[in-house]
Amino acid sequence: MLHVRKNVEKEEKEYMFTPDNSTTPLFGSYESDHLLPRESINEKAINPNIAYQLISDEMMHDGNPRYNLCTFVQTYMEPEAKQVMVDAIATNAIDKAEYPQTTEVEKRCVNIIANLWNAPKNEQYMGTSTVGSSEACMLGGMAMKFRWRKRAQTLGIDINAKKPNLIVSSGFQVVWEKFCVYWDIELRELPMKSLNELYLDPKAAIAACDEYTIGIVPIMGITYTGTFDDIVALDKELEEYNKTAKISVPIHVDAASGGLYLPFVNPELVWDFRLKNVVSISTSGHKFGLVYPGLGWVMWRDKEYLPEELLFKVAYLGAFEPTFQINFSRPGSQIWAQYYNFVRWGKEGYKAVHERSRDVGLFLTKGLEKLGVFKILNSGENIPIVCWMLNEDEKRAWTEYDLADRLRYYGWQLPAYPLPKNLEDVSIMRVVVRADQSMEQMSLLLRDMKESIDYLNQHVTEKKVVKKTEDHVAGYSHTEKRLLKK
Ligand SMILES: Cc1ncc(COP(=O)(O)O)c(C=O)c1O
Repeated sequence: MLHVRKNVEKEEKEYMFTPDNSTTPLFGSYESDHLLPRESINEKAINPNIAYQLISDEMMHDGNPRYNLCTFVQTYMEPEAKQVMVDAIATNAIDKAEYPQTTEVEKRCVNIIANLWNAPKNEQYMGTSTVGSSEACMLGGMAMKFRWRKRAQTLGIDINAKKPNLIVSSGFQVVWEKFCVYWDIELRELPMKSLNELYLDPKAAIAACDEYTIGIVPIMGITYTGTFDDIVALDKELEEYNKTAKISVPIHVDAASGGLYLPFVNPELVWDFRLKNVVSISTSGHKFGLVYPGLGWVMWRDKEYLPEELLFKVAYLGAFEPTFQINFSRPGSQIWAQYYNFVRWGKEGYKAVHERSRDVGLFLTKGLEKLGVFKILNSGENIPIVCWMLNEDEKRAWTEYDLADRLRYYGWQLPAYPLPKNLEDVSIMRVVVRADQSMEQMSLLLRDMKESIDYLNQHVTEKKVVKKTEDHVAGYSHTEKRLLKK
């Protein structure tokens, strides 16, 4: 987050922290009788046990991640996995020469994921780890932009006549807007048509293509709803378009959620490199890859799709290795944790863990249906992302936002947020069922949901217009909004 200096509410002096290295008990210590520094660092050191207690007490004011039902990222790993991460925390994944085994393990993960995504045997795939899907999407987008520019120049297209464009449904995650803003690209956003069609329309996507299109981005697990775009249909339409197009258009699949779920649970579903026009795919290791944040992966089906001018070299075992990353230093922990998971779970284990999450999601869906006030938009059958809205009831005076607020009373953080462009009048709620959520937890949620609904029915009897600010919505729904309006 970009932090902006705000006026401190009190005189800075009142926040000055001058410890005396006292040996009195933790909560009787001199330090616990003073405010922690807000603006300037304290002059003196304090004891680690006191520092730890004060800091962990400060942390207590965050929500409990296990109660955070809106987040996609892992909120639990086994003690052994945690230990692996702690063991690797001081390594730097970019120092290939100093930590060659981290590099080796990253390569093994790339191979494993390329195989899971059916990379063709007769092509030379390339891939890398990233900090998350956002960095992975940025890299995928940059590769498409640079490749388009080179080919356009060769084909005699005036690259300065228009901005290059990218085609995606309005269900895109904010990273694609960021990518377009940061790299000066026109975002061609195709509105999802209706509540029954929460995905990219392949024909509309083709109709939006022109000589300046760098690529189309279908999504496997739309952030809002968990629905999938039909990539087989898109690939087929694109195949026809590319036959006569002056410059062919590729597909980058944003599989942030689906990428490490589908290969285990539904390997027959075709969406990956089995489709000819899919040139790159990104995913989050910290979503259904079951690793703590932040880890992502991006893969190109062949080196042809990753322009060389984007690559940098680092020393590795007496030679040089190509790298493609926005960040430089970051710990090797997440890479090791991903490898631990691959070794620990294997295909069978991943399948079992994910299928259990799906069962828990379906259990939640059934319970929600029984409450009698919701319309289910995604049951969690395709991926454990359950999404619903209130059904029509003229008499009901409360909204999804009131329910989200009431659930906070029980500790649950469960988002209510509006759908994107074209459907923005519809508000929905979503639970991403993760591996650490059990039937028991979901039954407690349903119990609290029922109590919340009864409470709201009794206490909110008059419809009032409560203006929900963007901050409110974003705070709950794991979204980011642009500061400056377009
Ligand atoms: C479809 C999609 N793409 C990209 C992202 C960004 O992922 P990350 O949080 O791993 O950067 C998300 C996150 O929810 C997502 O759902």
